[in-house]
Amino acid sequence: MRVFGVVIVLFLLVAVVGAQAPTAYPVANLAQVMRAIYFPNANIIFDVQMRDPDAPRETTAADGTVSSTFASIYTGWQLVENAGLMLAEGAMLITMPGRLCQNGRQVPAGYEWQKYVREMAATGWEVYQAAKARDQALVAELTNDLATGCANCHSVYRDKDDRCIPDYGVTRQ
Ligand code: HEC
Repeated sequence: MRVFGVVIVLFLLVAVVGAQAPTAYPVANLAQVMRAIYFPNANIIFDVQMRDPDAPRETTAADGTVSSTFASIYTGWQLVENAGLMLAEGAMLITMPGRLCQNGRQVPAGYEWQKYVREMAATGWEVYQAAKARDQALVAELTNDLATGCANCHSVYRDKDDRCIPDYGVTRQ
């Protein structure tokens, strides 16, 4: 009876621990997050410089794919709002513990890295606010911060032979 009780307790413990197992863990490498989240969403925002999101879209010939069939659902300013939100939300993705760069190094985590991440998140949020206000001129202006934000971080951590070295913001004593 006693053994049975212990077994039940163990079983319950396993169930509880199982239920609390972390569900947030990185799956993609940093370059994949950049190509899938930062790159396409930044381009949507850059487009606002040349194109009023309110302007009717040229209709593309339906080729029967799911993408073309539903291409006209989330468009216009909503697309820009969501792009800003995803750049802000991306901060969480690129600071997630355990994420690796393409070369297998841990994603940098020093002070400078955090600063660039915060700046990108802030710009994304500002783009979201400007898109909600339907302010094309302001979104166009914010693309300067956007381009600078990508470039600042890349110049330190990406655009070199050896990527993802946390050579800023990490004391080396
Ligand atoms: C906080 C730092 C940081 C910010 C901000 C950032 N990036 Fe990156 N990005 C990186 C690093 C580091 C890599 C290299 C990743 C790797 O090698 O795994 C990278 C890689 C990329 C790549 C993939 C390049 C390749 O090798 O194919 C693209 C595309 C990219 N970034 C676009 C952007 C865009 C667009 C923005 C701005 C909206 C941006 N990134 C903002 C750090 C950043």
